[in-house]
Amino acid sequence: MSFKEKIQRFLKELREGAPTRPPAEIRQHEPMSRHTTMKAGGDADLLVVPQDVEELKRVVLAAHRAGLPLIVLGGSNVIVQDGGITGVVVKLSRLNRIRIVGSDRIDAEAGVLLPRLARAAARAGLSGLEFAIGIPGTVGGSIVMNAGTRDGELAPRIDSVTLMRPDGDVVTLEREALRFRYRHAELPQGCVVSARFALQPAPMDEIDATMKRMLGARSASQPLHSPSAGCVFKNPPGDSAGRLIEAAGLKGYRIGDAQVSERHANFIINRGHAHTHDILALIRHVGRQVEQRFGVTLELEVKIIGRAARLKGASRPSKLRSRTHSSHATIMGAS
Ligand code: EPU
Repeated sequence: MSFKEKIQRFLKELREGAPTRPPAEIRQHEPMSRHTTMKAGGDADLLVVPQDVEELKRVVLAAHRAGLPLIVLGGSNVIVQDGGITGVVVKLSRLNRIRIVGSDRIDAEAGVLLPRLARAAARAGLSGLEFAIGIPGTVGGSIVMNAGTRDGELAPRIDSVTLMRPDGDVVTLEREALRFRYRHAELPQGCVVSARFALQPAPMDEIDATMKRMLGARSASQPLHSPSAGCVFKNPPGDSAGRLIEAAGLKGYRIGDAQVSERHANFIINRGHAHTHDILALIRHVGRQVEQRFGVTLELEVKIIGRAARLKGASRPSKLRSRTHSSHATIMGAS
């Protein structure tokens, strides 16, 4: 089957899967600059926004049957290459329900943004997610990478995670089965549909005060008003990537419209129309400089996905690609 035929088959499967319902929101050749916090990246062949879990299942099965790769994209902490993404990108922004369960649990669907979840927990008088108030990610993406700050990470607050497997089956796994580490979780193949968080009852004003303090510290030290993918590198053990990059004299260093933030050196900001090949060239430059000066090899925290464009004059991001080919975005391979 040619690629075009696979796309046609996918669309047909999706329509026929539920003839009485309008199909999920689908866009062809959709620029990923519209769907990433970095505001850069080429087009996805198809972008699908399912309305609910049932529709997500139809999308997953249709992609599987058509032999198309499927990527679930939150949009933060990810850099999409200039050549775009082959296959189906799924955005779970409509899976956005939050439910308080009993006295100390919260269920949230994968598309819920963490700051909204943190505020909902605060309103319910539940403590444990205050640190998430300033993280611009979705529940799904944040679980996949065990998102966190110096004040905490998601893993200890997770009770269970519900995943959809590539065959459409839905399974719920307890936290212990997911083997979380610093910015990493071991999830079986599939995409996160929802999660249950276990929190502690606490006075609402205390929770609010903590969130306010954390937000204040974050906006004083990070470039929150410029497009970025968050911290580019993981912190090396016992040190800070931002400190090392600043000490290497790289604050403000710029390639095209990609620039090392003047405010926090572990952020690369998009000054307007940054191409991903410029962002990747800057990441490589920063990594090399830090290695040469301090002998520290920085490991990427952001995930690089998609295909490199064959642009005239663009440097080949081969080293970065080989290091990151197993992207941490939720990817379900084609059959
Ligand atoms: N520093 C510098 N120069 C800089 C940035 C930082 O010297 O340009 C120094 C600071 O002065 C401080 C130390 O480095 O002494 C640590 O900085 P900071 O407190 O800003 O924290 P971080 O380690 O750089 C981590 C997370 C952030 C999170 C903050 C706040 C990682 C890779 N980064 O940053 O998470 O927001 O703590 O809790 O774990 C992200 O994951 O995308 C992210 C931004």
